[in-house]
Amino acid sequence: MTVRAALVLHGPNLNLLGTREPAVYGRVTLVQLDRLIREHARRHGMRVECRQSNHEGQLVDWLQSAEREGFGGVVFNPGAFTHYSLALRDAIAAIKVPVVEVHLSNVHGREEFRRHSVLAAVARGQISGFGPQSYLLGLDALAAAPAPARRRR
Ligand code: DQA
Repeated sequence: MTVRAALVLHGPNLNLLGTREPAVYGRVTLVQLDRLIREHARRHGMRVECRQSNHEGQLVDWLQSAEREGFGGVVFNPGAFTHYSLALRDAIAAIKVPVVEVHLSNVHGREEFRRHSVLAAVARGQISGFGPQSYLLGLDALAAAPAPARRRR
């Protein structure tokens, strides 16, 4: 089963891409990143929609409605929520569509607190450290996704 329609979610502070800590996150703005994502999806015949929110509850709502809205998978950069949001973890665990956790920076090579993701165990997988390419690899992972494996909780 390959995913033909994907929802891309950007979490808190990713609206500031381009000017936010450029040495870490680069100079690509969110508008430019979303364009790269849409172009990549189009080349692969995928429908994609990109959304950003600074609010945990909004991200929970979008995860919960993804399947109802016709998306077969989610590429999700949860920002700092990665490291502590049990509400997002529960949302990912609760839904059937696969979620790929992505990060622009290599979270494993940064501060200690970034090395732990409370979401990774319930995500289909994690891609970290490839800049904007992390999102494109996330889409590729969904496009090639095998039938859902039993997930560890
Ligand atoms: C991030 C890494 C997180 O630790 C950080 O809080 C972010 C961005 C990334 O894309 O590298 O906001 O998710």
